Amino acid sequence: MAVHQLVKRYGDARAVDGISFSVERGDFFGFLGPNGAGKTTTINAIVGLARIDGGRIEIFGHDVSTAWRQARRLIGLAPQEYNFDRYLRVREILMYQAGYYGLRPRDVAARIDALLERFALGVKADAFVSQLSGGMKRRLTLARALVHDPQIVILDEPTAGVDVELRLELWETLRALRREGKTIILTTHYLEEAEALCERVGIIENGRMVALEETAHLLRSHARDELTITLAHPVQEPPPVLAHFGARVDPQDGARLRFERLGPLELSEVLALLGRAGIDVEAVNTERATLQDVFLELTGRGAR
Ligand SMILES: Nc1ncnc2c1ncn2[C@@H]1O[C@H](COP(=O)(O)OP(=O)(O)O)[C@@H](O)[C@H]1O
Ligand SMILES: [Mg+2]
Repeated sequence: MAVHQLVKRYGDARAVDGISFSVERGDFFGFLGPNGAGKTTTINAIVGLARIDGGRIEIFGHDVSTAWRQARRLIGLAPQEYNFDRYLRVREILMYQAGYYGLRPRDVAARIDALLERFALGVKADAFVSQLSGGMKRRLTLARALVHDPQIVILDEPTAGVDVELRLELWETLRALRREGKTIILTTHYLEEAEALCERVGIIENGRMVALEETAHLLRSHARDELTITLAHPVQEPPPVLAHFGARVDPQDGARLRFERLGPLELSEVLALLGRAGIDVEAVNTERATLQDVFLELTGRGAR
């Protein structure tokens, strides 16, 4: 899937301001950004729900605006907001969705049964959406996105507001889809979610892409692992050799030495140098860099 210079305006405001990115077959791509950044607008443009004001979107070579019929068959969307017909029962919702793609009931009945089973909705097949729990609605959204067996599955904030248990369950489901060969695009403002799942991420802010990279590479190139060493006794200054490698004394607590990046030094060497300087160490704490750190560095603010 490729997005070239996409622009979407609402009145005078550019909700999406010329973004470009592509997702390869089989990728798990994270589309990140704070609320209001333009994620849903971009997704809606990709699935043909929003008219675009500039740029071009291709799905396996099909231009979304000229070949939307071919393009939309290849994509399944689990939207951010629930949009179920309240007068339909769970199984009917899936049947209607299949009909929307021109699939006949007798051809999809078995597949729908399998989806109901997979998403633990079998017992609710004849229930109305109003009778489902929040978690069941989330699972139904995903089941519906998969009815026509799309190549690309797009999930817009699938875990917003869901509890930890359901979130982990959804993560497992997404990993399984990935193993089945689906291409997955996930929007989220939970950065730890993207870190756990996505091989590549794009970070959007105010309608512009501020980063587009492999997750691991982004973490290596932007964020730093932080090392804090708690000393037995406060010091005024770090030993000169360690100051040279970026150690600084915590201004609030003279017993803490902080390193923002170790550079060429190994932790064991730091400890040896402290020992040689006659400084006793009480505790060592390392904090792994997270996407949250990268996000802060790139945008100057938190994602939430
Ligand atoms: N239908 C609309 N009419 C006017 N402005 C909109 C509409 N939908 C979204 N916006 C605005 O576009 C921007 C991007 O919104 P959205 O794509 O929903 O962000 P995200 O999904 O990243 O939270 C926001 O400023 C939002 O207020
Ligand atoms: Mg959104």
